Amino acid sequence: MTRPAAFLKYAGSKRASVEPIIAALLGSRDPRAYDGLYVEPFFGSGAVFFALRARGYQGHAYLNDVNARLMQLYLTLRDDLEELLAVHDAMPWGPGWEGEYARIRQEFNEKNERSGHVALVVDTQQAARFLWLNKSCFNGLYRENKAGEFNVPVGRYAKLTKQDPDDLRAASKALQNTTITSYDFRVLLDRADGPHRRILRGGVVVYADPPYVALTETSDFASYASGGFSTDDQRALALAAIEAARQGARVVLSNHDTPFVRDELYPTSKGFEHIASLQVKRAINSKADKRGAVAEILVAIGALP
Ligand SMILES: C[S@@+](CC[C@H](N)C(=O)[O-])C[C@H]1O[C@@H](n2cnc3c(N)ncnc32)[C@H](O)[C@@H]1O
Repeated sequence: MTRPAAFLKYAGSKRASVEPIIAALLGSRDPRAYDGLYVEPFFGSGAVFFALRARGYQGHAYLNDVNARLMQLYLTLRDDLEELLAVHDAMPWGPGWEGEYARIRQEFNEKNERSGHVALVVDTQQAARFLWLNKSCFNGLYRENKAGEFNVPVGRYAKLTKQDPDDLRAASKALQNTTITSYDFRVLLDRADGPHRRILRGGVVVYADPPYVALTETSDFASYASGGFSTDDQRALALAAIEAARQGARVVLSNHDTPFVRDELYPTSKGFEHIASLQVKRAINSKADKRGAVAEILVAIGALP
């Protein structure tokens, strides 16, 4: 049996650093012995969630990302695996694929699930386009223009490789027993009248991996969905984490390791633990010479489950 793992190429994927993150979430507890809720408001490629499942976590998970097309892909993978595999297989993977790129990207953009849109539906055609674009676009980036259109250019590949069907099967199985949504993170974490109120309480763990604070004013390669992520958003997330911890949840957060992040966003004086500073290799950067190691900090607040 293939073990579940993140299968998308994704800017900011935590595939390479899941161990310290899982330890920060659960302490010494074995994921097999934890059956509380797991909440991931910035899901992306879901590296930490899939790693938890691979290690035997079987509880219910709330998976959310503001990118509705992305979450619709996971919903479709969860609920209509066999049809998605068939449609995925029929995409143009062979020679001449470059000539199909503009058309498929346009079809993808004609679907109007805008970021933050809540009504996700199973759509195997659109999910297969997402999988194909992830393999064929430049560096596997996901970026939108102001109108919410995916605008990454075609990648330079001699040939395309399909997603491995066994990886997709394993991911589909892992996605059972989950609630999949596309909201702004505030809806999940701090809106008292939100649809998920009362999910944050003792025994719940949250892993929040937002778009990072910029290291320089021009480093915007990880801009993701059309709205961007401002300093106000960073501050709102820090406040939401404090509030979630007050309600009993354990919240672990990642960001760049900068004085602003350490001392202003997540100060120890407000109850944040600075768990580790990790050197993370950046697999995705539009400038190859900038793909070096960057320091990331892992912080936590709230009681261990
Ligand atoms: C650093 S990535 C997460 C990567 C993920 N941990 C992984 O392993 O692939 C940040 C994610 O936050 C999402 N995002 C951006 N703004 C958001 C918001 N306001 N609310 C929820 N998600 C948001 C982006 O679409 C992106 O997928």
